[in-house]
Amino acid sequence: MPSLKLDVRSSAIGNPDLITFFTKGSPLPAGVPAEEFDGATLGHVLLRDKGQRTLVVGLGDKAKIEPDTLRRAAGAGVKHLLKLGSKEIALDLTAFPEHVGPAVEGALLASYKFEGFGKDATKRTRGVLARLQVLVKENEVTQARLAAVETEKVGAIINTIRGLGNLPGNMFTPAILAEKAQELAKGHGLTVKVWDERALKRDGFGGILAVGQGSVHPPRLIQIEYRGGGKRETPLALIGKAVTFDTGGISIKPGAQMDEMKFDKMGGLAVLGMMLAAAELKLPINLVGLIPSAENMPGPDAYRPGDIITTRDGKTIEVLNTDAEGRIILVDAIAHARLTHKPSAIIEFSTLTGACIMALGHQRAGLFTSDEKWRAAFIAAGQLTGERVWALPIDEEYKEAVLSEIATAKNTSFREGSACASASFIKLWAEETPFVHIDIAGTAWTTKPPAYLEGGATGFGVRLTLQALRAGLS
Ligand code: BES
Ligand code: MN
Ligand code: ZN
Repeated sequence: MPSLKLDVRSSAIGNPDLITFFTKGSPLPAGVPAEEFDGATLGHVLLRDKGQRTLVVGLGDKAKIEPDTLRRAAGAGVKHLLKLGSKEIALDLTAFPEHVGPAVEGALLASYKFEGFGKDATKRTRGVLARLQVLVKENEVTQARLAAVETEKVGAIINTIRGLGNLPGNMFTPAILAEKAQELAKGHGLTVKVWDERALKRDGFGGILAVGQGSVHPPRLIQIEYRGGGKRETPLALIGKAVTFDTGGISIKPGAQMDEMKFDKMGGLAVLGMMLAAAELKLPINLVGLIPSAENMPGPDAYRPGDIITTRDGKTIEVLNTDAEGRIILVDAIAHARLTHKPSAIIEFSTLTGACIMALGHQRAGLFTSDEKWRAAFIAAGQLTGERVWALPIDEEYKEAVLSEIATAKNTSFREGSACASASFIKLWAEETPFVHIDIAGTAWTTKPPAYLEGGATGFGVRLTLQALRAGLS
């Protein structure tokens, strides 16, 4: 990541391009013809004065402005100016001091672009944001600086995660993820432990091993610990699915859009991002992050339908479909969390089911929990961060569907209600520990990005979870 310089000031220095925001009905800046611009949401006009550009971005009705309005408007503005080659941008937030956080967030997330690997990849198609100035009134500088600095840290982490997420399966294997996690986590003063194949065998991680055994790229389990809370305080466990590529295995997927299964690692990357961010923000809590990672491939050594697998805590799985692999690696990590760390709650993120996308589309992630407190915290955090969730049912009524005659549970059942049944399968391994499952199948990557993102990995879950955790703290 090229480093970006961010300052919060009461007037711009140097000669940055400027982004200003306008609401419907407020007086237009000089040089803007009323018939060209009415301040409608995300409409914009570009003014040029000698070398300097001013982009006026509309916010719509003043009464309807929410955090996401500024996030989108700043994102749209930054993307527009970067395409024109801008390197230094000033955001005029003098009229919106309460939305500095979301505006900076939108600007930073919009500054990331996946350049790819084409032969022109080094010839950038737009400018790189080198400096961002945030302009507020003199007496609001201190407050705004706090918001901007925190947002900047998290934004940079999310862009790193998106960059890793966009890498294809041949460039990003479980071992590479483990190395990357180690490198990043150590840079943030976190404790990391990685289980390779031998260690996974030694400690009885039958689920992670089974899913990974068909690939020449062996599986890993990555554990990241953050201790910002009291010595004796029980940690919260954050667990994320990192299947570096999901072919479906022996129950192979159809070919259409199979390339998108490089994004099947985004739950794990989100957890990595959350751990890095918790350390950066020095949250006063203890966290343990667990990222089970495997590549799901067919082949002579691959696991097969009918196999019985024994997981870390001795529970067994009857495999009926090798494409329902996420839950198999996740429950191994959940059992480990429960047995080793005795967490106060387990929060798990995964691109788990196509069924969740059928239910909610790409607009919202599925939230599955029987815990009222966490449900409320995640719903509220979703509204604030724009990473929205919708609660779906889990547990009792759906558990029947996954119980097996010959094992603790079977990994697939009926198509109907399968997002809920899958969640209920995973919950069996959490036992009595409060459990939250967030199905990010529809939100982990996008082909129709909001104004502050581009197509590809979104980093979904990092901002959401940080907000939910921080709300729980205050
Ligand atoms: N990674 C997929 C789920 C998925 C599919 C995410 C499409 C995003 C887009 C998961 O491993 C999977 O294959 N799930 C199957 C389960 C089925 C075999 C019971 C599914 O949802 O079809
Ligand atoms: Mn699958
Ligand atoms: Zn998968």
